[in-house]
Amino acid sequence: MSGLVLLGAQWGDEGKGKVTDYLGEMADVVVRYQGGNNAGHTVVVGEEEFKLRLIPSGILNPKAICVIGNGVVVDPNVLLKEIKYLQEKGIDTSGLRISERAHVIMPYHIAIDTYDEEAKGEKKIGTTKNGIGPCYSDKYNRIGIRIADLIDKEVFAERLKATLEVKNNLLVKFYEKEPMDFQEIFENYSEMAEKIKKYVTDTSYLVDEALKAGKKVLFEGAQGTLLDIDHGTYPYVTSSNPIASYAAVGVGVGVQNINSVLGIAKAYTTRVGEGPFPTELFDEDGEKMRNVGHEFGTVTGRARRCGWIDTVMLRYAVRLSGITGLALMKLDVMDSLPKVKICTHYECNGEKVETFPCSLKKLAECKPVYVELDGWQCDTSNVRSYEELPENARKFIETIEKYTAVPIKLVAVGPKRDQTIIRTELFK
Ligand code: IMP
Repeated sequence: MSGLVLLGAQWGDEGKGKVTDYLGEMADVVVRYQGGNNAGHTVVVGEEEFKLRLIPSGILNPKAICVIGNGVVVDPNVLLKEIKYLQEKGIDTSGLRISERAHVIMPYHIAIDTYDEEAKGEKKIGTTKNGIGPCYSDKYNRIGIRIADLIDKEVFAERLKATLEVKNNLLVKFYEKEPMDFQEIFENYSEMAEKIKKYVTDTSYLVDEALKAGKKVLFEGAQGTLLDIDHGTYPYVTSSNPIASYAAVGVGVGVQNINSVLGIAKAYTTRVGEGPFPTELFDEDGEKMRNVGHEFGTVTGRARRCGWIDTVMLRYAVRLSGITGLALMKLDVMDSLPKVKICTHYECNGEKVETFPCSLKKLAECKPVYVELDGWQCDTSNVRSYEELPENARKFIETIEKYTAVPIKLVAVGPKRDQTIIRTELFK
């Protein structure tokens, strides 16, 4: 039994796709446990770039079984497009499996996500408008449609009819929009269900059997800790739980199967959407991080807000998920900076704040306190071992380890598979 959870330790976009791809090479099973096509993974293999939103990056390993777990919300349109995209690039998708219990994103979810954001005006969350929140809301409101319901025409017709009545009322009376047509949705989604059917199975059983057989299972989280619906910067969060303990729920296996937890963090911090961000930069350094780091959304193309690395946030992520090691991504983006900073704690109205506050009002008032180190000002993108890194880069890494109290096991110095420095074995 060997279960490793990989998750974002910041606000998402940490570079999880690259690490999943890297570890996916060693895994027998790669399984996603939450989120949907709000995620965006860019993976570079050789000279080729792959952009994935829903299917785990483990699909690039032809030997691995690649699972979309029950905790994920699935837009069949996106799923089929992604399968086609991968097939056109010569990738074998026969290892894909989809949980029959995963919920389906319907057209009214996407419409309501958009109208809701418009209605919120300045108070908008800045969602990806992919229907993620409305789909999870329906799941918890027990009016969702699961993959198993979708592929059974009779059940699908019955559930769609009941739900669409409620949704059309909302669309017409509240949002003052056109109602949606039952027949059109039913036919379109039934057609897609036919194409998806062959991938659908009891994935909880499949993953459990793999674990019992001693296979290596990689649990892949999407988004990041600070976007967690329970523990993130609520309400500026996503609608699921990216933290590690949810891997057991979102896949349907026992918690004892999680042996180690790898938190992925960038050497700096980014966030998309709204909400307070204590270490955010509005200067040249922030601009450099954005441009050198190509900090523009894979899904939405939005420019990401950039700032220094924040160990208050990372300590919180370590605590919430029991992170046993960190992967530090995009170190090379910092190569040209003369000085680099690490936030050690905040100060709020004269008080020293060392743990991440719940209140957004307080978080907005928190002033970051930094240790400032000399930069290394040389190219690290060709470095392949820790010892070869410039001394100042090592000092930067070791200072983060000191303030987070966890080892940095992997350092990434570029987007390619081989631009990776492994300090400790990750997947036993
Ligand atoms: P939703 O997940 O589309 O509902 O969006 C809710 C919030 O989570 C917004 O601030 C999004 O920008 C953010 N978000 C969702 N997915 C990701 C991701 O993969 N990376 C970074 N931010 C994300």
